Amino acid sequence: MTQIFDITQAPDPQDAPGRAFPTGFLFGAATAAFQIEGAAHEDGRTDSIWDAFARVPGAVVRGDNGDVACDHYHRYADDVVMMADLSLQTYRFSTSWSRVRPDGGPVNRKGLDFYSRLVDELLGKNIKPWLTLYHWDMPQALEASGGWAHRDTAYRFVEYAASVHDALGDRVDAWTTLNEPWCSSFLSYIAGEHAPGRQDPAAGLAAAHHLLLAHGLAVRELRARDQTLELGITLNLTVADPVDADDAGDRDAARRIDGQFNRFFLDPLFRGSYPSDVLEDVAGLGFDAVVQPGDLEIIQSPIDVLGVNYYHGELVGARPGPLAERNAAPSERPKRSPFPAADGVHWHPRGLPVTDMDWEVQPEGLTRLLCRVHTDYTEPTGTGIYVTENGAAYADVVSGDGLVHDGDRVGFLRDHLAAILDAIDQGVPVGGYFYWSLMDNFEWAWGYEKRFGIVRVDYDSQARTPKDSALAYRDIIRARRL
Ligand code: FCB
Repeated sequence: MTQIFDITQAPDPQDAPGRAFPTGFLFGAATAAFQIEGAAHEDGRTDSIWDAFARVPGAVVRGDNGDVACDHYHRYADDVVMMADLSLQTYRFSTSWSRVRPDGGPVNRKGLDFYSRLVDELLGKNIKPWLTLYHWDMPQALEASGGWAHRDTAYRFVEYAASVHDALGDRVDAWTTLNEPWCSSFLSYIAGEHAPGRQDPAAGLAAAHHLLLAHGLAVRELRARDQTLELGITLNLTVADPVDADDAGDRDAARRIDGQFNRFFLDPLFRGSYPSDVLEDVAGLGFDAVVQPGDLEIIQSPIDVLGVNYYHGELVGARPGPLAERNAAPSERPKRSPFPAADGVHWHPRGLPVTDMDWEVQPEGLTRLLCRVHTDYTEPTGTGIYVTENGAAYADVVSGDGLVHDGDRVGFLRDHLAAILDAIDQGVPVGGYFYWSLMDNFEWAWGYEKRFGIVRVDYDSQARTPKDSALAYRDIIRARRL
């Protein structure tokens, strides 16, 4: 493919105050199709698992759904102007499988045309499109025939990936196969907190493997079509610390959490094997029969980019603490780990400030995570590393001046960018950062109740208002300094 735009770099005056970001470091923001597009029943799109799940009473707060969301499907051109005003260099978005191949069937030209227009707008503003193929919105028709628990879904995913590449491959370089397969398997098929809402440990493990298989197959397909693409995957990773490092039970709790969030995905991708301790944890759940000969070689197909999503770390122990389970959905389901082999792991507070999600603000965890992932996985394989999500929900208040003075989010953003600079200082070549999210949006089981955006969305008028955090981010991007 032809490189048709350059990311321009502002000059970097050496005498300017603050810490400089390396040349080439990309600043961006992220969204996902189901969370912002709306137009759920337009131009041939049919139900995804999230449309169906949102209709289940109690699954999403207030019965919120994605029918309109941020109406980005109709407002994308203005939204891209807004991104350019904020000086974003790159924009991470996802394509909707249900729009591109409704019901998992034949290609829907109108669906692809939307993404083609979006990409043209981005390129017209010199914003690099960073495309994710799967951010959780599988066609409901495929779930009806087994979903990710069914091996065939991996092959359907490759057909979908190929059709998106047919339409956009001439203009998009950066391709991410999956966003956070931990969520689309364990949280969705075991904990039942995300679509499709199943509570079946064996199905969740099978889903995780089939997602990874889908990733590997898609990487091979896209690589065969074009050697110049930047291919990658995005994982939600964490740092898991024992409450008491001298306590064997606490250390084992941390091992289990590190196993399910980090190593269960990183090891097959970078080393071609599942971690043996985790396999022992899940023995008896039929996982052996799911993994077929040759699968791990496919999953280990070389990638160019690992996307790291980081929100907070985990402090865990073998004894109950005052904190309930992380990631608990708004419905007060029994709080437990979504991973069958991590029952008995208990979360503890560090005593740090928390966001509106009740997530502790722990920027140093990001530095440690990046260093560890680099040393253990990306450096040995020569893979690039980007922070593809990081952000905070706060209970924003619109002030009398009509603006949102979100100093808490400004602090969060600055502290996490500093944490990335700390990792860079320690030798980790972090290529860029995407704040989650460009704008307030449909936050899954929390509906529109949680606001992560640097841009406020008024859901009645669909007006967009940059918050103080958006302006602070713009200034950092322009200065390329913190
Ligand atoms: C991540 C998701 C993203 C958003 C943030 C807050 O797990 O990828 O869609 O919900 O959390």
